[in-house]
Amino acid sequence: MIESRGNSNEITRRYLDSLLIETRYMNSRIPELETELFGKKVPSPVMTAALSHLDHFMFPGASKAYLEGVVRSGAVLWLGMAEEEEVEMYAQTGVTMVEVIKPYADRDLIYKKIEQAARLKMLAVGIDIDHPFSEDGEYDEVDGYPMLPMTTEELKEICAFSPLPVVAKGVLSVYDANEAIDAGAAGLLLSHHNNRIVSAIPPLMAMPKIRAHMKKQVPLFVDCEIRSGMDAFKALCLGASGVGVGRPLMTALKKDGPDGVAAYLKEVNDGLRKAMAYTGCADMSSLDETIVWGVR
Ligand SMILES: Cc1cc2nc3c(=O)[nH]c(=O)nc-3n(C[C@H](O)[C@H](O)[C@H](O)COP(=O)(O)O)c2cc1C
Repeated sequence: MIESRGNSNEITRRYLDSLLIETRYMNSRIPELETELFGKKVPSPVMTAALSHLDHFMFPGASKAYLEGVVRSGAVLWLGMAEEEEVEMYAQTGVTMVEVIKPYADRDLIYKKIEQAARLKMLAVGIDIDHPFSEDGEYDEVDGYPMLPMTTEELKEICAFSPLPVVAKGVLSVYDANEAIDAGAAGLLLSHHNNRIVSAIPPLMAMPKIRAHMKKQVPLFVDCEIRSGMDAFKALCLGASGVGVGRPLMTALKKDGPDGVAAYLKEVNDGLRKAMAYTGCADMSSLDETIVWGVR
């Protein structure tokens, strides 16, 4: 068996750590984290990444406990693959939510999920365009649901149908960015989806090129290895409108339950506030790429 090399999470971690920031203390003050996404004010650009199957991967009741922690934190919840009833459970808490819908081969299911998301007044929906294939390079099947790659034409129909903004998740190239934008995507989430493929570009390394060549400016989101307020700060400086934290919330949930999830998100927000204060950024509109050194 060939040894697996080039773990994309490790590469992304190294890239994030290689980015450095300059300080700007003069005229600085304690900053505001509030931001606006798709016309709605949210308390912070630090959100959850789209997780799923927590009861299966962690313990029975993990999804509920996770939800409790996220609600307590006030963060926007990005939700991964979930059955209809689970989505209803999440929505009942009143949490601001974005559901990331899989590229189900049964395209009707995508439309049904969008209808549910609209009824539940979600902020947006996502389509993880990067999950058609399995580990062995065949078309994937998850929980008995076959997946298929999204065509530009199909995404166009989905975007035209959706009353909610559609975010394409899993974009790492100018090509996918512009196909999604042509199709009507209202936002892009730059991600390699937890090392779905090795040797993937760190999302933040792809971001400047994507920003420069996007046919239309739409909000960009980033996940993968966002672990601290400083990571979030670097992403926001480089042009992200929001960032997603994924696996650390599972670790926090395992250790300290809902309190752990809320505490981790608070720590990331506190770190972001500190980074902004030390760099003279009073609010979300004042972050820019000139603060970050070492961008390749
Ligand atoms: C247990 C688990 C389940 C996930 N489920 C989904 C999913 O259903 N849909 C999706 O788009 N991404 C899913 N992801 C990927 C995350 O949204 C995210 O892209 C990835 O974990 C990278 O962020 P992180 O480094 O902060 O964990 C999942 C990740 C994990 C760890």
